[in-house]
Amino acid sequence: MAKTRVAVLFSGRGTNLQALLDACAAPDFPAEIALAISNRPNAEGLARAANAGVETRVIDHTEFGKGDEGRAAFEAPLQEALDAESIDYICLAGFMRLFTADFTRAWRGRMINVHPSLLPAFRGLSVHERTIESGAKIAGCSVHFVSSEVDAGPIIGQAALAVRPEDTAETLAERILALEHDLYPACLKLLAEGKARLGANDRVTFDGDLAPDATIMTPMAPG
Ligand code: GAR
Repeated sequence: MAKTRVAVLFSGRGTNLQALLDACAAPDFPAEIALAISNRPNAEGLARAANAGVETRVIDHTEFGKGDEGRAAFEAPLQEALDAESIDYICLAGFMRLFTADFTRAWRGRMINVHPSLLPAFRGLSVHERTIESGAKIAGCSVHFVSSEVDAGPIIGQAALAVRPEDTAETLAERILALEHDLYPACLKLLAEGKARLGANDRVTFDGDLAPDATIMTPMAPG
């Protein structure tokens, strides 16, 4: 069967991009990274994609205007690049730009994001600092469909860990990042296999043979 064609959009380091590249390198993984796009010319992730033999593109957002008009202008070449590669799903991996409502609507159910908190808690920036400050005892990460609101779309999967008394924002970030690297490919796999999807009610539905509550990391695909 043809593999699901994925574009990864990122702005920086690209460790989640790397996790997706590594997962997709397995011959039996149901998705392939067909395109890696950065909005920053110096993003470290570009070298990761190139090393994996994946086509890269830079669409520098600073060359387009500001506000909604600038966003729409940025999205035109982006959409063109996605169309040219017949992309099925977009994975945002540390992509620190907002989209217009039109773009998110066009990609509804086909654009996902990883965020380093147990949503709906701690959307936005400085997540780990705010988690530590809050005194929360459980933290983690979420993979969700992208909606017009930042870090707020329907949740596909989450992974959790205990916050340690000695944790700093840095140590917490590091341990959550390791969870992200497992959770993101696991969620992409479910979508690519058609075992999870966004329903009309804005809830994610899973096929019956999954047991998403079997462990603290969801979703759990059998095998
Ligand atoms: C990751 O922790 C990701 O969850 C976060 O940016 C980091 C990117 O790291 N994304 C967000 O905060 C989105 N709201 P990476 O470039 O090494 O994958």
